[in-house]
Amino acid sequence: MLFDSHTHFNNEDLTSLERQALFNTVDKAVQDGRLSGAVDIGFDLPSSEMAAEHARAWTWCYAAVGCHPHDAKTMDEEKLARIGELSKEEKVVAIGEIGLDFHYDLSDRDVQRYWFRRQIRLANELKMPITIHAREADQEVMDILKEEGAFSEDRKKWFGHAGVLLHCFSGSAELGMQYVKLGAYISVAGPVTYKNNKKTVAVAAAVPADRLLVETDAPYLTPVPFRGKRNTPLFVEYTARRLAEIKEMTFEEMAVITRENAMRFYGIGK
Ligand code: NI
Repeated sequence: MLFDSHTHFNNEDLTSLERQALFNTVDKAVQDGRLSGAVDIGFDLPSSEMAAEHARAWTWCYAAVGCHPHDAKTMDEEKLARIGELSKEEKVVAIGEIGLDFHYDLSDRDVQRYWFRRQIRLANELKMPITIHAREADQEVMDILKEEGAFSEDRKKWFGHAGVLLHCFSGSAELGMQYVKLGAYISVAGPVTYKNNKKTVAVAAAVPADRLLVETDAPYLTPVPFRGKRNTPLFVEYTARRLAEIKEMTFEEMAVITRENAMRFYGIGK
């Protein structure tokens, strides 16, 4: 049984009918024993509210709440306080996704930096794991995480690990290993199935299996052989199959270990 550690049921391109159909499909896969669950990840306040609502509605659905660097320009103190409130709900399992994205620069870089730091501090106050989005900002994301105490001894005491997950990791294998040594987890998405993506294959090969998670980031990043179609949590299977090949494990072993890692990272079932 697979667990999709990062998805967006809250994506604004889905109509409510499409969203309902998607929930029904995933629910059936859960009943059939193909999936064990998924985490709906917030990217601004409305999508975080929605993720929390989805987690209340479906037993197998969990939520992360936070503001993505793209949407950092929409943040203010009141919204941050509301994110803190939402994070106290039982099935809200992380603050995220938060980070820096210097590829698209959809928010001013200083605004991204400011709200990234504030949300790490919030997570430290509330003893929450964090889910990180980093694009073309590898070194600075690492520096800010260190400066804000994301790898502190306190956090390791609370979680048994740093409570830091690098989602859809796009850095080098070397950087991935630096994160592993700091107590973080690394999540791999559909791009690991793309033919020319040697970088993510190298990351998956280097990172120990007990630190790897799988995700879809649906509706984006659809894995081969469905590339071009809208992604859904069910397609996490193809990412796990590719990881199993890379790690020379069976698909079943990879499904179990990545699910257990996700449970441990998010503190689900503790
Ligand atoms: Ni995402």
